[in-house]
Amino acid sequence: MPSNPSLSEVKASNASTTWSHRPTAVFVGGTSGIGEATARALATATKGRVQIILVGRSRARAEAIFASFPRTPESQYDFIQCEVSNMKNIVNAAQEIRSKLTNGTLNYLVLSQGIWLFVEPKQVLNGIDHRLVLNFYSRWKFVDELMPLVEKAAEKGEEARVMTVLNPNDAGSVDVSDLGRKTTTSGLSLAKAATAYSNVMIEEYPKLHPNLAFYNIFPGVVSTPNMNAGAWWSQPLIAIARMLIMIKPEESGERMLSALLNPEYKKGGFYLDQYAGQVNVAKENEEVRKAVLDHYRSEVAV
Ligand SMILES: NC(=O)c1ccc[n+]([C@@H]2O[C@H](COP(=O)([O-])OP(=O)(O)OC[C@H]3O[C@@H](n4cnc5c(N)ncnc54)[C@H](OP(=O)(O)O)[C@@H]3O)[C@@H](O)[C@H]2O)c1
Repeated sequence: MPSNPSLSEVKASNASTTWSHRPTAVFVGGTSGIGEATARALATATKGRVQIILVGRSRARAEAIFASFPRTPESQYDFIQCEVSNMKNIVNAAQEIRSKLTNGTLNYLVLSQGIWLFVEPKQVLNGIDHRLVLNFYSRWKFVDELMPLVEKAAEKGEEARVMTVLNPNDAGSVDVSDLGRKTTTSGLSLAKAATAYSNVMIEEYPKLHPNLAFYNIFPGVVSTPNMNAGAWWSQPLIAIARMLIMIKPEESGERMLSALLNPEYKKGGFYLDQYAGQVNVAKENEEVRKAVLDHYRSEVAV
């Protein structure tokens, strides 16, 4: 494919993908926006020969989404309700996911849970703000809990990929004296911290799991319900931006799927833009990376 493929090229490429088995996928944050659109793109590309599990809080949304997916006798669509800012809930949700994935393998784990950055601060995990917990800690806790299933897929020679939807280019440098940013209320600072920590994970996890692929990918500026939570005065500006610069979730979902299926990104750590092209990010040194990993592990321990 060309470096900035058109949407029709991306869709055609996704539609031409074949699987020797029925693939399995979990979308945390799949009840809306980019996660929903990527799940729909996968259901469409597989023509419904797929097992998809959506994780979120809204069962009604999940049921409406499943009703719009293609169906065959092989389709299996499940919803798992989970408030993901609580790590014990994630452990329980992962247990449920294991029981639903009857062949014991997970091919694609897509993480896009999040909320509008400029909402009220709220401390949820050992004093860490919910925005950072959603974008970072909860996502990698799912990765850890579901890792045996993804590893099993790799052992069988199947697809085994993990994708976190953020913006790899938007990282601040890690402040090791303030890991968790427990006194920070600025949405932008928290977003930069989430990206910086995630970029460290994208570098470190492939060393621990060399047969898997890990991505931090930018979805584009996407017109989703996410920004509806903005202040009343920001809504006219958001409405104009929706018309002028934002892409539709459908386009983002197809592009996210093309990254997820790209044969060049089968193993290793990748930082990607909205066209699934690789971007360079500033790397932290080994000492900082270890500090981030140790901090993450101690905060998510249950
Ligand atoms: N939209 C963009 O332009 C853009 C650009 C760059 C990066 N991103 C990244 O993509 C993420 C998703 O954005 P989006 O536009 O797809 O947002 P969205 O449409 O609002 O979707 C957010 C998803 O997160 C889930 N969620 C939120 N809080 C949760 C909680 N406490 N527990 C469980 N699930 C929760 C929601 O499910 P329930 O409501 O069912 O719980 C929903 O499925 C953002 O947070 C951001 O990290 C977005």
